[in-house]
Amino acid sequence: MKIDGKHYRMIWLGEDGRSAVTFDQTLLPHRVEPIVLRSMEDAARAILTMQVRGAPLIGATAAYGLALGLLQDASDAGLAYSIEHLARQRPTAINLAWALEQVRGQVAPMPPADRAAAAFASAGRICDDDVETCRRIGEHGLAIIRDIAARKQPGDRVEVLTHCNAGWLACVDWGTATAPIYMAHDAGISMHVWVDETRPRNQGAALTAFELAAHGVPCTVIADNAGGHLMQHGRVDMVIVGTDRVTANGDVANKIGTYLKALAAADNGLPFYVALPHSTIDWTIADGFRIPIEERSADEVLKVSGRLPDGAIGSVEIAAPGTRAANPAFDVTPARLVTGLITERGVAKASREGLLALYPERRSPVSR
Ligand code: MRU
Repeated sequence: MKIDGKHYRMIWLGEDGRSAVTFDQTLLPHRVEPIVLRSMEDAARAILTMQVRGAPLIGATAAYGLALGLLQDASDAGLAYSIEHLARQRPTAINLAWALEQVRGQVAPMPPADRAAAAFASAGRICDDDVETCRRIGEHGLAIIRDIAARKQPGDRVEVLTHCNAGWLACVDWGTATAPIYMAHDAGISMHVWVDETRPRNQGAALTAFELAAHGVPCTVIADNAGGHLMQHGRVDMVIVGTDRVTANGDVANKIGTYLKALAAADNGLPFYVALPHSTIDWTIADGFRIPIEERSADEVLKVSGRLPDGAIGSVEIAAPGTRAANPAFDVTPARLVTGLITERGVAKASREGLLALYPERRSPVSR
């Protein structure tokens, strides 16, 4: 990922070796400010307040958070407390529990004195794995985009619609849904992305448009309700989104509103792809309707935040005082509406058999 032409990852080990550094996404795109996480509580707060967000980045931040917690208390009780505290900050993205379990599995057998250093190393490996995983997702998705480009008139752009932010801001680098787009753009395929603004928090308008522009990919922000219209008028070739949890049968939880885009894509005969790393598959849940759906504050619906005329970042009310609002943050797209799951191992049919064909080691029950 590039910010002002300089290559970064979204999270990295602080220079002191006892902290983690990321960018505060609540300030983007108006201010690019690194934040230093110095304690387990800092990491937990950053996840809860969405200074970091996006399933893979939540996982990577939790891994560093656990390492920070072990600096404070490396006993068995301290380990259990940090895991429990971090895990409950956001319930839907399975990457959070996955990353904590990766680190716990490494450090639990060790003497407490060795645990923190091992946890930092484990967090670093989770980040490296995420970068390579997203790169491979990009290669598999690029093959799909090449096929679509080959069927278009020479010079016509491939038109992609995406929802929320499943880009490098949501991961460690590349992104999941955006990796194929970046690779296609870099390969010389003419690309254009319709970016759903993604109310209530506007991750599309604030984050996806920002990072696509930073990579030089042409994009246009649209109101969330515009996608179906554009599809009906032949202005979308494919949809690619990310996900917070895919269940063993291929159902997909993602940012609220994703389901409606899948319905519109199906009605218009358009491919609807979901890009995901292995860390987002929940093999323990049979179908998507068992996924816990995060309910967030009504304030996110009743207020909009952004840059005010004086340059400050603030929020304004958009409803009358006392108005009630509900804010389910994710929805579930049934597997039958998903054309394919783009993983680091290839493109799977969205079904139990499709996933197991790519992850045969999961055929026998494995606890994690
Ligand atoms: O609430 P958010 O911003 O964390 O939601 C993020 C999404 O829904 C992303 O699409 C998902 O985490 C995939 S990120 C590669």
